[in-house]
Amino acid sequence: TTPIASTNYFKLEASAKKLLAPEAYDYAAGGAGLEKTVAANRAAFDKWHILPRVMRPVQPKRDLSTTLFNRTIPAPIIMAPVGVQTLFHPTGERSTAAVFGQEGLPYTQSTASSTGFANVAAANGAGNPRWYQLYWPSDDDLLRSYLTTAKKSGFEVLVVTVDTWDLGWRTRDLDRGFFPFINGVGVQIGLEDPVAHEKLGFDPLAKNATEEQKQMAALYHTIVTSRGVSPVWENVGKLREIWGDAPILLKGVQSAEDAKLAMKYGLDGVIVSNHGGRQIDGAVGSLDALPAIVEAVKRNLTIGFDGGIRSGADIFKALALGADFVQVGRPVLWGLAHQGEKGVRHVLKSLLADLEITVGLAGCASLKDMDRSLLVEKRG
Ligand code: FNR
Repeated sequence: TTPIASTNYFKLEASAKKLLAPEAYDYAAGGAGLEKTVAANRAAFDKWHILPRVMRPVQPKRDLSTTLFNRTIPAPIIMAPVGVQTLFHPTGERSTAAVFGQEGLPYTQSTASSTGFANVAAANGAGNPRWYQLYWPSDDDLLRSYLTTAKKSGFEVLVVTVDTWDLGWRTRDLDRGFFPFINGVGVQIGLEDPVAHEKLGFDPLAKNATEEQKQMAALYHTIVTSRGVSPVWENVGKLREIWGDAPILLKGVQSAEDAKLAMKYGLDGVIVSNHGGRQIDGAVGSLDALPAIVEAVKRNLTIGFDGGIRSGADIFKALALGADFVQVGRPVLWGLAHQGEKGVRHVLKSLLADLEITVGLAGCASLKDMDRSLLVEKRG
């Protein structure tokens, strides 16, 4: 059958699989180890059912808008930072950044992006909300340089991923020996960085650069940003010094204790996430971790959520449990595989429409009406 960008997530994934090289599909679909946490992320949604209210005035249209860090956005849906997007379509980040920009929804650029800051910013469009996700470099000069370039390119919010200072045991990629960064995919920020050029002693993008130099620069960026050394709380001050008062969020928080520490260290928010089950096999399902974090820090921090969101009902549950926004990863990639920008637009518009209908049918006129009273926990 011809691959189609279905409105059903599972059909969408199945048809994307047909369009993609097997290693690209597996890189995105897979997780760590036995992929128990990939499954736990989905299972966590099934533990909650929506208990709708009826006969409420929810016409003519549900208002999904919300305000995050002084910006009002049309819906609480954000592009999760996802690297190496040219694996899924040659237009990669340009397409995803363009579509999120057109919808006025925040786009998060990954440090492992296959497109540099300037090109993502241009594709995303002037004045649109852009966030930058940092894999914290072990070299302070590079840290400063990446953050400074991000700021200059109009990235407003810093998302620091703290669960991936080393890669998880990803069996699908290990079995294939597939590591995109070695092949120069997902290293563009490093290749373009002026301080990296100084350190290397050459510009890998110069006309006269050799293949070997390009490979060296790719390896350098990869080692410096996922180097096997965990960032520590005591160094949060370095980020603040460079990023200033603009918002900083930690992504990859699962424990309420860590959320409280994020508050103590002056961060602006946390993103409850287990990296889509790609880091620790057996880690708790992401939605299972959300309620305790909401309970611990909701009054003080902005709380984002990702992991396993596949439908409007999933977004509804995360928001009703107290998340301020959600991020979507894999569904966007499967859309991207279907004709680039067109496929991404299809996925994002479908999610928005699905959410809008679900919110209304559950008896809510806006996000303010959504809370835990609209959910029941499944027994047994
Ligand atoms: C990711 N994720 C990720 N996270 C991050 O902070 N920086 C990154 O570069 C990447 N890269 C990346 C690549 C691919 C192919 C995937 C699938 C995921 C994790 C991502 O931001 C998010 O946490 C999960 O994808 C959310 O789960 P779902 O929506 O994919 O189930």
